[in-house]
Amino acid sequence: MTLTIDTKLKLNSGYEIPQLGFGVYQTPPSDTARCVSEAVKAGYAHIDSAALYRNEGACGQAIRSFSRQKIFFTTKIMPYTLGYESVQSQIDRMLNETGLGYLDLVLIHAPYGGSAKRKESWKALVEAVEAGKVRSVGVSNYGVAHLDELERHIAELEEERGGKGKGGVISVGQWEIHPWCPRDDIVEWCKKRNIAVEAYCPLVQGNRWGEPIVKKLAEKHGKSEAQILIRWSLQKGLVPLPKSVKSERIVANAQVYDFELTEEDMKSLDTGVYEHVSWDPTTAPLKD
Ligand SMILES: NC(=O)c1ccc[n+]([C@@H]2O[C@H](COP(=O)([O-])OP(=O)(O)OC[C@H]3O[C@@H](n4cnc5c(N)ncnc54)[C@H](OP(=O)(O)O)[C@@H]3O)[C@@H](O)[C@H]2O)c1
Repeated sequence: MTLTIDTKLKLNSGYEIPQLGFGVYQTPPSDTARCVSEAVKAGYAHIDSAALYRNEGACGQAIRSFSRQKIFFTTKIMPYTLGYESVQSQIDRMLNETGLGYLDLVLIHAPYGGSAKRKESWKALVEAVEAGKVRSVGVSNYGVAHLDELERHIAELEEERGGKGKGGVISVGQWEIHPWCPRDDIVEWCKKRNIAVEAYCPLVQGNRWGEPIVKKLAEKHGKSEAQILIRWSLQKGLVPLPKSVKSERIVANAQVYDFELTEEDMKSLDTGVYEHVSWDPTTAPLKD
């Protein structure tokens, strides 16, 4: 299949997600509306924010100036605040602050909080979907043990809430993924269940510029190293979320559809290492 800037993936919820996303972590709230507007004008139709980033309102402001239906907006429950009422009130706050009418995707940002809180939080997300406040739900930074537990919780909720579908469906998962942290086990778990896998830190937060394997591919294809990393993510079937506050980079990071990495190019990016640059809650014990 030929990838284009309009490529979308079909989610388990039935909705579609644009494959290329735009991240706004560490984007100052006062500058976020400009960045999001520039991103949408450059062709991104998917914005990734979080309660933690304190810029959901500015994202909403920018998105409302375009056609709401055409832009997919994600936000995330604040880490370390899981709980039934907490998730309910956060979703209402998100709707209020963004003024978007509905949220395309809400993720549990991190598994911290223990099993009972994770289950209650998921239940609150499922109810928000049923109430039409949220379209799709998922998790971020869950390890395979947390994902297995979530499946058990979904089965329990189906029993408790009256049958199939009442436990909700996992549509999306989000993790730090790039050639130095490919997370094959988690990606495989999700693939088996048609869960879309989002790749955060697709540019390794700028920590790997000059790496010989990427530099070589950049020279070969006449593209930047950032474009090579984003293209790697897209060709893996992932949903990359590159972030930038710089106008020219926002545009360039989306110009990744006029070349293709060969099978050999892709293989050369199999580094065999596990070196994350952001936090790594995937390894947190289930009790935490
Ligand atoms: N779920 C989670 O726990 C989690 C954690 C981290 C991130 N995320 C999400 O994933 C998104 C992306 O991750 P990230 O922001 O941490 O890192 P990233 O996208 O890998 O890298 C962003 C960094 O790269 C720079 N950059 C961007 N384009 C560039 C280019 N073409 N050439 C050179 N440098 C470039 C940016 O600087 P400038 O802005 O100055 O251009 C910024 O310093 C976040 O914004 C957020 O939405 C989620």
